[in-house]
Order: sequence, then structure tokens, then C-alpha cells
Amino acid sequence: MNPTQAAFEDRVASLEGGVAALAVASGQAAETIALLNLAENGGHIVSSASLYGGTYNLFHYTCPKLGIEVSFVNDPDDLEAWRSAIRPNTKAFYAETLGNPKGDVLDFEGVAKVAHDNGIPLVVDNTLATPFLAQPLAHGADIVVHSATKFIGVTERRLRRDRRRRHVQLRSERSLPPSPNRTRATTDSFSPNSRRRFSRPLRAQGSVAVLARRRRGDHPV
Ligand SMILES: Cc1ncc(COP(=O)(O)O)c(C=O)c1O
Repeated sequence: MNPTQAAFEDRVASLEGGVAALAVASGQAAETIALLNLAENGGHIVSSASLYGGTYNLFHYTCPKLGIEVSFVNDPDDLEAWRSAIRPNTKAFYAETLGNPKGDVLDFEGVAKVAHDNGIPLVVDNTLATPFLAQPLAHGADIVVHSATKFIGVTERRLRRDRRRRHVQLRSERSLPPSPNRTRATTDSFSPNSRRRFSRPLRAQGSVAVLARRRRGDHPV
């Protein structure tokens, strides 16, 4: 087990209110792993059409090659459209909290109710909202996926960079004679190499994505 990865998984599971998370190489890998655990050859998924383009391509072009058919609901607010897209082999509903790039907000509870009435789990991509704005698991979703190279990763990276800069600045302030340009000089004193060194491990972390699951006892299916 990689302890850095485990810490990241624990934090994201905790932010989302899930019991566990799994860090993988990318957001698209997280989506794929989540859905391949639910659907297999011969399975069917119903998805909102308000999706990140790469996810649309995964569903429209790649899933059929694996024997998984995906039906798209053009208006995700139309709960009847979700209901009527269900087939006997439907294994999952899929949607984004905030559709990328449209920015429309998912009716978590409405869509989750249609899914759960039919024994189907709801998978939500919470990348654009982050758990700071929305916690899909608290509103009926069963699995959450993230692309951690977006807000959730960048925020962490920024915080660490700012903390590191502040630390270097304080250290320099203690050792340098007073100067009106001191703050500027210390902030600018990062060479391109030192910048790269500080940000490398954080960038690696930024390429990770997660799945979070609801408490087992709460699972509707
Ligand atoms: C909403 C959303 N989900 C998933 C992804 C895919 O993430 P990744 O690029 O980490 O595979 C993206 C990428 O832009 C995205 O915007």
C-alpha cells in the first residue's frame, strides 16, 4: 500500500461522506472502474447527456465495444425520460453534479429515486462541484467519481505551494537585513528548478481520481 495514496483516498472519502475511496490514474479510469463493476458485456447504462466530452466518447464509442450499451437522457431534469430509458438489463444511472461544460445542476434526489425504485445505483461525477459545494452521497447517489486534476487537486496544490512560500519567506525574513523589497525578493527567489522540485510530488497527486461508496447498510440495491 502506498501511504500517500491511502491518505488521499481517506481524505476524499471523508470529504464526500463515503466509507472508502480508490485512487486510480485518472478521472476516466475512475469512471471506467466504477461502471465495469456494475455493468458487463450485455449490460446497459442510462446517462445524462450533459457530460464532459471525454466521458461522452467513453460511453458512445468505447462502452459498446465492451458490449455495454448507453442510452442518453437529453434533458436530465425530465425524470420520466430516465424512467422510460430503463431496460431489464440496466445496471447504472450516470450523471455529473454540474454538467461540463453546460453547468446545469443535477436533480440528485429525483434521479436517485427513479434509480432506486428500479433497483439501480446512481453514479455521480462530482468533479466540477467538489464536495465543498455538493455531496452527492448525502442526496441519494451511491458512487461518486472525481477527476482530481481539477479543483480538488489544484486547491490542495495551491495550499501547499502557498504554505511552502510562506515558510521560505519567514525563514528569509529572519536571516535578511530589513529591506523595502524584501517580500518581493524572497517570493521571486524561487528558481525554475526549485519551483519544479516543490511542485513535482503534488502534480503527481493531482492526476489521481477517486470513487467513494456510501455506507453499506444504506445501499438501496
Ligand atoms: C467533469 C469531468 N469528468 C471527468 C473528466 C476526465 O478526467 P481525466 O482527464 O482525469 O481522465 C474530466 C476532464 O476534464 C471532467 O471535466
